[in-house]
Amino acid sequence: MIDLHCHLLPGIDDGPETLELALQLARHAVASGIRVAVVTPHMHVGRYDNRAASIRQLAAGFQSELDRAGIDLRLQAAAEVRLDHEVISWIGEGHVPFLGRWGTENVMLLELPHSHVPVGADKLVEWLLKQGIRPMIAHPERNKDIMRSTDKLLPFIRLGCLLQVTAGAVAGRFGEGARDRAIDLLGKGWVTVLASDAHNMEARPPELEPGRSAAAAIVGEDESWNLVRHRPAKIIGSAV
Ligand SMILES: [Fe+2]
Repeated sequence: MIDLHCHLLPGIDDGPETLELALQLARHAVASGIRVAVVTPHMHVGRYDNRAASIRQLAAGFQSELDRAGIDLRLQAAAEVRLDHEVISWIGEGHVPFLGRWGTENVMLLELPHSHVPVGADKLVEWLLKQGIRPMIAHPERNKDIMRSTDKLLPFIRLGCLLQVTAGAVAGRFGEGARDRAIDLLGKGWVTVLASDAHNMEARPPELEPGRSAAAAIVGEDESWNLVRHRPAKIIGSAV
């Protein structure tokens, strides 16, 4: 399986603080059937001042550590980009590392605030699309506005945004509200991929299989594999 959203790099955001913890997460990812992980540290104004160049450098260093430790996990580097006007200048300056490609477009993992869907978010999405960048909205099932009503997502779906739902949410790790919303989104056929959004071993481990098998009960076995293997592979341009 391929994990398109996880925080495995040490000391760069609210993921693992040390190399040792990061290696533990990577071992767990491999043991749970993940072969490729796109590491997606936060880029968040005022909190996490990460940029493409520093993320790629750290990911290359961590890949060497994985190889040295005999952990068979292949890394790619991207970012989870918090919605902000700064995104426009980041894009202009080439600071945003993309998840991969969707047809001829670049795919950017876009995080909305957890509390609400900001007014004007669709305008930023329109601007991104004009630049040839297709946003993939991270974990919509945990956004409070969207938990109240999936109608809040409609403008983004109409614009053609991709959706990443958290595998653990489908499996019930984030409570009933997030699980119910994740199931709604799967039932509507709006979900592009499931990803772990792994941060640590306790609350958010790097696992996809519990979510995949729970999703299979809703979307069927074939589509459940599309969510964790075939579609992520297409996005990162990898053989399955
Ligand atoms: Fe994340």
